[in-house]
Amino acid sequence: MQRNHNYTTICKIEKVIDETPTVRTLVFSDEIMSNVLPGQFAMVWIPGINELPMSIMISQEKGKAAFTVRKHGPASTGLFNLNVGQPIGIRGPYGNSFDLKRGKLLLVGGGTGLVPMMRLLTFVEPTDNVTFLIGAKSKGEIFFEDLANNLLKNNPHDVIVTTDDGSYGERGLVTDMVEKLVNQSGFDAVYTCGPEIMMFKTVQLAHSKGLFVQASLERMMKCGVGICGSCCVGEDLVCRDGTVFDGDHLLSNKEFGYFYRNKAGILEKY
Ligand SMILES: Cc1cc2nc3c(=O)[nH]c(=O)nc-3n(C[C@H](O)[C@H](O)[C@H](O)COP(=O)(O)OP(=O)(O)OC[C@H]3O[C@@H](n4cnc5c(N)ncnc54)[C@H](O)[C@@H]3O)c2cc1C
Ligand code: FES
Repeated sequence: MQRNHNYTTICKIEKVIDETPTVRTLVFSDEIMSNVLPGQFAMVWIPGINELPMSIMISQEKGKAAFTVRKHGPASTGLFNLNVGQPIGIRGPYGNSFDLKRGKLLLVGGGTGLVPMMRLLTFVEPTDNVTFLIGAKSKGEIFFEDLANNLLKNNPHDVIVTTDDGSYGERGLVTDMVEKLVNQSGFDAVYTCGPEIMMFKTVQLAHSKGLFVQASLERMMKCGVGICGSCCVGEDLVCRDGTVFDGDHLLSNKEFGYFYRNKAGILEKY
């Protein structure tokens, strides 16, 4: 029988991987979630706590998927603290995905925004030349560098890490590196996911050079299916119309990069 993606399916955590002291990857078996497109997300129920939107992380094992969670408030900490054998509920997948271009690609990710970028890497062709930028505050917060190199081992590629404090890789903001790269050479497409200010600058820089650019947005979500309105950015609902938007469209949206909505739906400045 076909599964209704709006019904919650219960899965058990099968493996827990510590990425950093505050970030963990939880692996589970689910054929549908293992085959989603980059940019799609699931609503994840943490029994007794809450339900959260989460990007769907790849697993190296067939038929498995994962969530990579950073502990923050009660819900994400509840998910972070789950052990092997404990249940989670998942519904979805929801949302659209990146338009996959071929050629010279620039991917820019920060924090758990790296999750959709990792899935995007599984869709590149061996002929694609990929520059992958990972931005972090400091050395202790870097994860997925080895995985990115491994996924790109058959491609001409460069994985570049930037840290704000210079404790690893190139010193400075990841967007400083974006600026340098888009000034040096042309790219056929630029894809980004991470903190909104990082995405805003990346979109601006790529757009100023006339490059095709897309960003996968994260907003406060409750229903995940276009009913409650809590994820709106201007006229757009991130859960229904995104999570992936074209750069031109985003730059015409007066809220992107400037305002977000808090849990009460009130507009606040970044
Ligand atoms: C499409 C999408 C994909 C995401 N992917 C990841 C991921 O891969 N890894 C990860 O660690 N985080 C991800 N997040 C953010 C994650 O959902 C929030 O960090 C989390 O909801 C906040 O957790 P908390 O413990 O602070 O929330 P709490 O304070 O416990 O509150 C939980 C409630 O607030 C809502 N909420 C609070 N903050 C956010 C937020 N920033 N975004 C959306 N809803 C919020 C939740 O839906 C939930 O109803 C994603 C968010 C979105 C929208
Ligand atoms: S989360 Fe409810 S409309 Fe998007």
